[in-house]
Amino acid sequence: MKVIIVKDYEEASQKACEIMLEVVKGNPNANLGLATGSTPVRLYELMVKDHKDNGTSYKNIKSFNLDEYFGLDQSHPQSYHYFMCHHLFNHIDIDMNNVHVPKGQGNIDEECDSYNKLLKENPIDIQLLGIGSNGHIGFNEPGTPFDAVTHKVDLKQSTIEDNARLFFDGKIEDVPTQAVSMGIANIMEAKKVLLIACGEGKAKAIKGMVEDPATTELPASALQNHPDTILVIDEAAASLLTK
Ligand code: PGA
Repeated sequence: MKVIIVKDYEEASQKACEIMLEVVKGNPNANLGLATGSTPVRLYELMVKDHKDNGTSYKNIKSFNLDEYFGLDQSHPQSYHYFMCHHLFNHIDIDMNNVHVPKGQGNIDEECDSYNKLLKENPIDIQLLGIGSNGHIGFNEPGTPFDAVTHKVDLKQSTIEDNARLFFDGKIEDVPTQAVSMGIANIMEAKKVLLIACGEGKAKAIKGMVEDPATTELPASALQNHPDTILVIDEAAASLLTK
C-alpha cells in the first residue's frame, strides 16, 4: 500500500485527479470504478475542469459505480445515479450507455448477479474509494466477508447517521436502510485502487487499515493484500499513523 499524505482536501483532490487522469489518458478505453460521497466531489470538479480546459475525452471510457441505495429511483436527488450525473457525467463526454450504477430497485438478487457478471466481463482499471468512519468501503460494512461479491446490504446505524448529516438534510428517517454494493472481492479485482480520505473523522479508520492486522471488522484493511493500492490522505486523516 502506498500512502501519500498531503496538506488538505484540496491537495488530496488534486493528487487524486492526477492519478485518475494518468489512467484515462494512458488508456482511452479504461474501465473506471467510481464512488459517491462527499469526498470525491472536488475530484469530479477537477476532472470536469480538465475535460473542459484540455479536452480529455471519456467517449470510450466505461464506468462502474460501487453502490446504490435500495428503494430510491435513479431520478431521486439522493440516489447515487443522480449524484454521478450531477457531479460528473452531465459535464463530460461519456456515453451514458457506458455508465453503470447498480439498480436499487426491482429484483435485487437478479441485479446483484448481473452486476457481478458485468464486472467479470469488464475488469476495472482503477477503482476510486472513500472510506467510512467505521472503515467501510463501498457499502461493505464491518463484518462483511472479504470474499463477498455484489450483494444487498443492511446499513449500519453509524453509516445512516453519517449520510443523514451529509446528504439528507439531517433527516435520518429519509435515509434508506438498505443498499446494493460491490463486494470486497470485486474491489480487490481492480488493477489499481485509489482511496481518498480527509478529515479527523477518518483518522481511526485509516490507522486501522494501514497499521493494524487485516480484519473483516475494518473492511478497508482487506486492501493490505491488494497489489496496487494508493491512499491519498490529508494530515488530519493521517494524524493517528505512527509508522
Ligand atoms: P464520505 O463517505 O466521502 O462522504 O466521507 C465515504 C464513505 O462512506 O465511503
